[in-house]
Amino acid sequence: TDLYAVMGNPIGHSKSPQIHTAFAKITDQEMLYSAILVPLDGFDTAVDDFFRRGGKGLNITVPFKENAWRYADQFSARAQRAQAVNTLMKLQDGSILADNTDGVGMVRDIVVNQKVAIEGKRVLILGAGGAVRGVLQPLLEQKPANVTLANRTVSKAEALARDFADLGEIAACGFADVCGEFDLIINGTSASLAGELPPIPASCVTAETVSYDMMYSNETTVFNQWALDQGALKTIDGLGMLVEQAAEAFLLWRDVRPDTEGVMNAIREDCR
Ligand code: ATR
Repeated sequence: TDLYAVMGNPIGHSKSPQIHTAFAKITDQEMLYSAILVPLDGFDTAVDDFFRRGGKGLNITVPFKENAWRYADQFSARAQRAQAVNTLMKLQDGSILADNTDGVGMVRDIVVNQKVAIEGKRVLILGAGGAVRGVLQPLLEQKPANVTLANRTVSKAEALARDFADLGEIAACGFADVCGEFDLIINGTSASLAGELPPIPASCVTAETVSYDMMYSNETTVFNQWALDQGALKTIDGLGMLVEQAAEAFLLWRDVRPDTEGVMNAIREDCR
């Protein structure tokens, strides 16, 4: 049986074991997927041990996505850009390949599951941390008309915009300086963890605006509720992104892409 796992700290609430176990069942793959709590200073040792025991692949979550980037030997283009990694895989020659499936997962959730086109749209992204860096390349590959990065610390948004400027039209500003209307507003800040809202002007939202919160919860997130209150057309939370990034990792490992719809419904039910 092939061994896989997710590593993080904390890890108790991770839904990855449930998601990948369901994928394995649907696609008839013989594999075991577990959750491993890794001490904050013990990432490299834990990964060494896992692969030495015959492990085939890992998902990496908070706070180790940058450690995983440093650990790996080879990188997908999107992982290289993201400088953060959520998926590791042991190759035939023993080297470790790193990928970041968060961005493709999010884009697939938006475009395929929710049937919201990104091409030609005005996109506003809130936040400029690892979560946003992780999704920018796949998002820009959809050819939005333009992307505005707004962040509490403006210099971080500016640095990120510079790093991705070759992939599309991308501007940076502070929350209060956001102006104009947007078709898609993505919240990639961790503000909602504290129940806080990035203070952007209500005029960003129109009756056609779709809001996307990378966070998910059993109730409408604070950010999505704000968007609804401003008259947004539709809100989406991060549960679809969670399941789709897992499906992309599964595809990399097993060369088969599981159907995600049933798994998404099961996880949603579980949150209730
Ligand atoms: P992650 O991996 O979740 O992206 P991160 O790299 O620490 O974590 O980035 C957190 C993001 O949320 C940053 O954009 C941060 O803003 P700063 O760059 O100004 O720190 C943003 N953030 C966190 N708490 C916030 C709050 N209360 N209001 C607005 N933005 C917040």
